[in-house]
Amino acid sequence: MSDSSQGRRLPAGFLWGAATSSFQIEGATREDGRGESIWDRLCRKPGAIADGTDGAVACDHYHRWPEDLALMQELGLNAYRFSVAWPRVIPQGRGAVNQEGLDFYERLVDGALARGLRPMLTLYHWDLPQALQDAGGWVSRDTVGAFEEYADVVSRRLGDRVRDWVTINEPWCVAVLGHVHGSQAPGLQDWKLGLRAAHHVLLAHGRSVPVIRRNSPGGKAGIVLIISPPVAASGSAADRAATQSFDGEFNRWYLDPLYGRGYPADKKAEYTAAGHAQDFEFVLPGDLEDIATPTDFLGMNYYSRTIVRSSAVAEADNEPRTLPEPPPERRTDMGWEVYPEGLTASLLRVHREYGPREIYVTENGAAYGMEPGPDGRVHDEPRRAYLEGHLGACLDAIDAGVPLKGYFAWSLLDNFEWAYGYRMRFGLVHVDFATLKRTVKDSARWLSQVLKTNWLRRGT
Ligand code: FCB
Repeated sequence: MSDSSQGRRLPAGFLWGAATSSFQIEGATREDGRGESIWDRLCRKPGAIADGTDGAVACDHYHRWPEDLALMQELGLNAYRFSVAWPRVIPQGRGAVNQEGLDFYERLVDGALARGLRPMLTLYHWDLPQALQDAGGWVSRDTVGAFEEYADVVSRRLGDRVRDWVTINEPWCVAVLGHVHGSQAPGLQDWKLGLRAAHHVLLAHGRSVPVIRRNSPGGKAGIVLIISPPVAASGSAADRAATQSFDGEFNRWYLDPLYGRGYPADKKAEYTAAGHAQDFEFVLPGDLEDIATPTDFLGMNYYSRTIVRSSAVAEADNEPRTLPEPPPERRTDMGWEVYPEGLTASLLRVHREYGPREIYVTENGAAYGMEPGPDGRVHDEPRRAYLEGHLGACLDAIDAGVPLKGYFAWSLLDNFEWAYGYRMRFGLVHVDFATLKRTVKDSARWLSQVLKTNWLRRGT
C-alpha cells in the first residue's frame, strides 16, 4: 500500500474512461434513417424540459465523433462508455434494420479501438423507439422480445470487437422517473405502470445476456444500476423506516432479483398495501430465474448519498435531525451532496451482500457551470476536487478487497441533461452550444496528469 500523504499509486490493468449516452450527445436525430425516440417526443411537450431545448443537435457527436475520440486519447483515457440509440438501428423498434445506423456505431467502435480506447457499449440508455412506446413501451411485455431482437442485431454486428456490454442503464430511472414521477420519458405517473416497467426492463436484461454471449465470444455482459446509500436524518423510528423503504425502492428492488433473491418482501408488502400492485401477476414462472442470469460484472453509477427524512410523521412529531441538510458549498449544481465516502460504502456493500464477479464505476461526476474565462480556460476546481475525492474512494474500496476494475467519469462532454436541458454541465470538456467548440476543462487536465503519472496526488 502506498503512503497516502504522498499520493497513491493507481491499480494496474484498470479501465479509465469517460461515459456518455446517445441522446445526450449525438444530435442528428433525423439523419440517416433514425426513427423517433420517446425523448424526441417528450422534448416537444411544453414544460417537460427546463430550458425548452431538445436533442436535435446536442453536441453533434454524430458528426464530431473523431474529434471527441481524439480528446479522450489525448487525456490518456483507455476506455469509452457510450450507448447505442435503438431507433437509429431499428427505427420502428422491431423489424427492419437500418444499416446506416449500425454503420455509424461500427465507425465509432473501430475509431475507439484505433485510438486505444476500449469500448463499453450500453444497449439501452433511455431512448426507446417511439413506435414501441405507442404499443405500450416497457409496460408491455412485448418490449422484452423487441429488446432481445435489438440486442441480437447489435451484438451480431459488433460482437467481434466490443468486449464489454451493458444491457440497460439504470432501471430505477426508466421505471420510476419515466413511469411514476413522469419527469423523464415517457412521462407517465402511475406506480402500477412503474412496477411493470421495472420488471420488464429487468427481464429484458436477463434474456439478452445469453444473446450477447452467443454473439460476442469472450465478451462480458452486465447491467448498470444507480446506487445511492441512504442514511436516516435522525435515529427516530419513522426516519429509520423511511430509510429502509427508500433503500428497497432504489437499490434492493434491482439488486435482489438480479442476484437471485427475488423482489424484496418488505417492499412487495408496501407496494401491495398502497395498491400499486396486485399479486405481482406480471411476474410469470421462470422470470425471476431469467432476471438472475449470472452476469460478468455490475456497473455502478454513483453520484451521492441520500439523507432520508420521514414524510409519514409531522416534522414537529419527529426527533430533531442528527444529520442536517448539507450546506450549499457541499452541493453540486444539481443540489446533490458531495460525499465520496458513500462511494466506498456502496462498493463495499454491493461486494459483501451481492458479490458481483467484477464491478465498474460506470458513472461518477458533478455538475458545475463554469464557463471559459478570459484566459480561455475553464477553472473548475470543485469538479477536480470531486474527482479527487471519488478516485480516492475507489482506491479505498480496492484496498478493502472490492473487485473494482474500472472507473468512468460522467461525462466526457457537457451535454443534454434530460429534463434539465443544457443547464447542467457535467463534462470534463466544456461545450459551447452555440458554436459546438470543445474546451478541455482544468479538471480534465488534472485527471490526465493523474493517469499519465499513474499517481493520485492530493490537490492540484
Ligand atoms: C445518470 C444518467 C446519466 C446522467 C447522469 C447525471 O442518472 O445515467 O445519463 O444524466 O445521471
